[in-house]
Amino acid sequence: MMNFQGSHILSVSQLDREAIARILQVAGQMAPYALREKRCHVLDGAILNNLFFEPSTRTRVSFGAAFNLLGGFVRETVGEENSSLSKGESLFDTAQVISGYSDVIAMRHPKMHSVAEFAEGSTVPVINGGDGANEHPTQALLDLFTIQSEMAPYQKGLDNLHITLMGDLKHGRTVHSLSKLLSLYNNVKVTMISPNALQMPDNVISTLSNAGHEIVVTDKIEGNLACDVIYQTRIQQERFASKDEADLYRGHFSLNKEIYQQYCKEHTVIMHPLPRDSRPEANELDTDLNELDNLAIFRQAQNGVLVRMALFALTLGVDEKLTQYEKPVTWFTNKQARK
Ligand code: CP
Repeated sequence: MMNFQGSHILSVSQLDREAIARILQVAGQMAPYALREKRCHVLDGAILNNLFFEPSTRTRVSFGAAFNLLGGFVRETVGEENSSLSKGESLFDTAQVISGYSDVIAMRHPKMHSVAEFAEGSTVPVINGGDGANEHPTQALLDLFTIQSEMAPYQKGLDNLHITLMGDLKHGRTVHSLSKLLSLYNNVKVTMISPNALQMPDNVISTLSNAGHEIVVTDKIEGNLACDVIYQTRIQQERFASKDEADLYRGHFSLNKEIYQQYCKEHTVIMHPLPRDSRPEANELDTDLNELDNLAIFRQAQNGVLVRMALFALTLGVDEKLTQYEKPVTWFTNKQARK
């Protein structure tokens, strides 16, 4: 079993099935705290530094909320222009300094492998919140947690899954990390729908095919959505040379209720790492899908809190101590009703 305590979480390549099972198990144990049934202050006094050098809503805020839910303090730097990186300071020097102020660091950066470079200078665990088009390991873990929980009512799991990945598979770091994790499971079929110019990178396809998985690469929706899970993604405009270039691909694979009912199975679950691009020219997941129970996108985003709580508990070595540090909730909450 991987020794989580003190470890950086930089890539899904660090994880095997046993390590993933442990993360997802601890994530499940976090539900009573996230639902405000109880409080847990096992990280009382600990400090998370959230360093986000690229825009983020879910990842940044859920890392912070996860740490707060375990009783810790959160400090944030948002935007490189607000950091001395903009004065020429290296990632290594920044890491040496910030890790002196922290117990753990979560970081997002636009450059591939930059979080690993930063971690070399850090004296505390660093968790990758997305490094350019490379990886987004915590998203992939919350995606697995979501697939597992959404498939459970149908007596299915991560083995024998048929998933369709759709959209910008070239630049979408979430589908890169998720595919690598799926390569660890058995008999997975992966349908990849994208414009030809935005196909999944060869190394990711090789990882899946070397695991013996069936792969279908196509640029057509018709006939390719009868799967267990559709994982829609956004055209990653920030990875293109210009907006005009990104516009060439926007709106090719919009999914709405009519297309869902025509091509999907009765219980096909719809996922998206979010943000979904809801502008008319993109409309990746039409709002008419909101009425479907199988639209899992907001449950998926909530699961990010559980998985990130689990990663903090594991890397800081408190995963066995949660119940010793519980307290009652004293304020009004309706989160339990929404469970
Ligand atoms: N899924 C995700 O990474 O969302 P944010 O960019 O809002 O963090």
